[in-house]
Amino acid sequence: MILAIETSCDDSCAAVLTGTGEVLSSVVGSQVIHDLYGGVVPEIAARHHLELLLPVVERALSDANVELEDLERVAVTQGPGLVGALLVGIATAKGLAVGLDIPLRAVDHLHGHVAASYLAGVELEPPFLCLVASGGHTLIANIQEPGSDWSIVGTTIDDAAGEAFDKGARILGLGYPGGPLVEKEAEAGDPAAFDFPRAAGVPGVDFSFAGLKTSLLYAVRDLGEAEAEARRADLAASYQAAIVDQLVERVSRAVETTGVSVVAFGGGVAANSAARMGLTEAGINLVVPPTKYCTDNAAMIGRAAIELPDLPREAALALDAYSTADRSAR
Ligand code: KG4
Ligand code: ZN
Repeated sequence: MILAIETSCDDSCAAVLTGTGEVLSSVVGSQVIHDLYGGVVPEIAARHHLELLLPVVERALSDANVELEDLERVAVTQGPGLVGALLVGIATAKGLAVGLDIPLRAVDHLHGHVAASYLAGVELEPPFLCLVASGGHTLIANIQEPGSDWSIVGTTIDDAAGEAFDKGARILGLGYPGGPLVEKEAEAGDPAAFDFPRAAGVPGVDFSFAGLKTSLLYAVRDLGEAEAEARRADLAASYQAAIVDQLVERVSRAVETTGVSVVAFGGGVAANSAARMGLTEAGINLVVPPTKYCTDNAAMIGRAAIELPDLPREAALALDAYSTADRSAR
């Protein structure tokens, strides 16, 4: 029985899993307050984790019908993410591990998004590719065997895909988080109304979304406030189509260059139905976890932890957060 904790951004998450990866409960306490600021404020996120996390853990235990004493280990996200937010999860996990005298496992958040694919309810064995597209990261990983070791086939050279959705939503005056709002607005729009760039100048399997965001900004400026508002659905649909096309093109290239045909899709952007549909229609053999395991959650952290070793007690006590995905920078 594993208790998993995830606090890398603005969701306070806890889950209980069995040692074989069955999810008994998964609770996400979302911090709606960030909507007021148009994005996540790190200091506020950390303070809210302090208030939310223990009730969320208690809820995860009661939903799973499990007592604290039944737990055999604790898993926690170590990074990448907001350091203050991560530290609340890590301190809580350490306290539980020491108090209950059980081992602790440290999980990389991106490994969690990849491991979410194992919760898709289908048979999935390496080798497979995984497109991770979230608010903080966009990359294609090549998973050759179970565990946290994989090679990165391609990554974004500037913004993440979710960040592009969030920034686009802000430009369109839709609010935060942008992905679901752009998706909803796009339903009534024409994806061919505006011709937004698809990073044609970026070769290979790497992504770039910064130019796209700028061209939306210019389009809105050129239209003027009233016209931009009247054509908001068309702008949202065309903007979303440019993001989706880029994802589809890079994934298709990755399949071609690696010869690996199965592609898992994780991270918040995997909740986007246009993206799922685009990839499927391009003939990609796609595995997508249920939406609740695409956006940040602790079940994926618990699932990733199953493949990892327990930390020795001293290392568990000394565990520190890291902010960046670049392992060499730690
Ligand atoms: O994985 P996630 O919950 O957190 C990070 O690790 O970043 O991803 C959050 C991101 C946000 O940028 C959000 O706008 C985006 O995922 N997202 C979506 C959708 N739902 C969430 N993007 C597009 N369409 C959606 N339906
Ligand atoms: Zn995430």
